[in-house]
Amino acid sequence: MSPLARATARPEGPPAERLARAWERLLACAHGAGDLSTVPLDGLGADQQRLFATYRDFLAPSPDGLSVVAHLGQSLDGRIATEPGHSTFVTGADDFLHMHRLRALADAVLVGAGTVAADDPRLTVRLVPGPSPLRVVLDPDRRLGPDRRVFRDPDPPTLVLCRADRRDRDRLGEAEIVGLPAPRGRLEPRTVLAALFDRGIRRLFVEGGGMTVSRFLAAGCLDALHLCVAPVIIGSGRDALSLPAIARMDEAIRLAPEVMRLGEDWLFYCRLRRAPLPVRQAQEIDMADPAAARARLDRPEPVPTP
Ligand SMILES: NC(=O)c1ccc[n+]([C@@H]2O[C@H](COP(=O)([O-])OP(=O)(O)OC[C@H]3O[C@@H](n4cnc5c(N)ncnc54)[C@H](OP(=O)(O)O)[C@@H]3O)[C@@H](O)[C@H]2O)c1
Repeated sequence: MSPLARATARPEGPPAERLARAWERLLACAHGAGDLSTVPLDGLGADQQRLFATYRDFLAPSPDGLSVVAHLGQSLDGRIATEPGHSTFVTGADDFLHMHRLRALADAVLVGAGTVAADDPRLTVRLVPGPSPLRVVLDPDRRLGPDRRVFRDPDPPTLVLCRADRRDRDRLGEAEIVGLPAPRGRLEPRTVLAALFDRGIRRLFVEGGGMTVSRFLAAGCLDALHLCVAPVIIGSGRDALSLPAIARMDEAIRLAPEVMRLGEDWLFYCRLRRAPLPVRQAQEIDMADPAAARARLDRPEPVPTP
């Protein structure tokens, strides 16, 4: 039995140790060595319960076998960066820890070309124990050069998703280039999800930026949206969410989020209803793992956060 499979979540011990054990348990469940639905929450410490409550849904796939979570760290006035693209740091250290946890639990982390251009991120897991996921960059027109860090480092692997007619070679640095159909000149989020599903991705973390998360939200391609709001006003700059215009308030997306404190910031954890992948894949996952599909449907109510 692997060390991860042995990980338990006993309530006793100093807070840091308790949390580390609960985290090990989550990692074990995420990467195939355990089932979170068998973890009894009764008797756990409040900190452990909160950790499970925050990440449990991400680990339970929808009936089509996928789980897609997006996160944005935004200012009070709804910006994620200044106009030139500086975003270090909109939210605080606790939110960064949260993002690294989401990366570690995910099979893949996805960002738009704007984020790679502005931040040159590594997209690896460094703040918590856990594996770094596959990195996915949406760059439909292949405007990014090979000098970016995600394309220079071979580990973890990186995919560049572009329009099929822009795939002029197999690789960009160490990354693999994958061309996707773009009938209206755009990569549809559903096409992206289906392509990643075909490559074995079951848990996807959409890490930004604003345009990318907005397109996934508008297309009904998110199971959850984590909006972390920092008590700062930027006043101008890059928008967090930007959706097609509506005329009336009853067309707005009204949510019933769980709200959690993350250091100085507030995390709005919004559960959404994602449009399922095409039936062919849903049937495949139902047959392949009926227990996982059932677990998602029978999911218990979230544990209230302390
Ligand atoms: N605070 C945070 O949480 C956070 C997180 C990440 C990034 N950031 C900041 O946000 C800024 C970048 O965000 P952004 O909104 O400007 O850009 P972005 O979302 O990172 O990238 C947008 C680009 O990605 C491509 N793209 C994304 N989704 C697509 C889709 N469904 N179909 C086709 N193409 C798609 C498009 O490329 P083309 O234009 O080539 O078509 C689009 O312009 C940076 O300043 C970064 O520092 C902040």
